[in-house]
Amino acid sequence: MEPISPLVFRTERLELRPLVDSDAEGMYDIRSREETMKHRKVPDIDISDTREWIRAFSTSNLKVGYAVREIHTDTISVSDKEDKGRIVGSLYVGLERIKRADHLRWELGYTFHPDFWGKGYATEAVQGLVKIWSRIYELVLAPTALGSTTELIAIARKANKASINVLLKSGFVQIGEFLGVYGSECVLFGAVNTSAT
Ligand SMILES: CC(C)(COP(=O)(O)OP(=O)(O)OC[C@H]1O[C@@H](n2cnc3c(N)ncnc32)[C@H](O)[C@@H]1OP(=O)(O)O)[C@@H](O)C(=O)NCCC(=O)NCCS
Repeated sequence: MEPISPLVFRTERLELRPLVDSDAEGMYDIRSREETMKHRKVPDIDISDTREWIRAFSTSNLKVGYAVREIHTDTISVSDKEDKGRIVGSLYVGLERIKRADHLRWELGYTFHPDFWGKGYATEAVQGLVKIWSRIYELVLAPTALGSTTELIAIARKANKASINVLLKSGFVQIGEFLGVYGSECVLFGAVNTSAT
């Protein structure tokens, strides 16, 4: 993996850049679909929902969100182009109070466009983020989250086998189970080797 700056980084095939308003159209194409949101919340109804979701990342120092794009070999970097290319997914971390846990933890989430499922992209992006999590924490989040844990966790519904596979292949281990909203069975995962201290 090649870190470009604390907040922009690349994996072998992907470039991850902080979400900005101009990503709304690409993200709406992902977040408005039943199939991408069925294990999560309701799909975005219109693009203003997506804009609101993106804005939360730029206005909070307790979360970071990335737009994920493919690196095209005909350019040095997608960031050099006016048109950065199609968004294939998103990856985000936010400080959340986790059900049944008595303290706040950094929760990882991700959503990819169905056109790009099964290519190993989610796994590659999560593995990339885990590798630089300590830098993201120290440079971006720690100044406003003093005293918080650095522990990175993720939650997947038991029925979401693809997401569970992504987490297991990225070095997460199961640390608990609980019933989520509407009684759905959820699995709590913790990342190993992500200590920021
Ligand atoms: C979960 C999600 C991000 C996976 O994206 P992806 O890019 O297809 O993931 P990857 O290709 O990196 O890996 C998926 C793995 O799960 C496996 N998989 C996919 N569907 C599966 C299923 N129904 N049952 C079992 N395994 C499955 C794939 O075979 C792959 O494993 P492999 O590499 O060992 O073959 C994508 O399906 C998605 O965006 N879903 C909707 C949003 C979501 O559920 N986010 C997670 C919330 S916790």
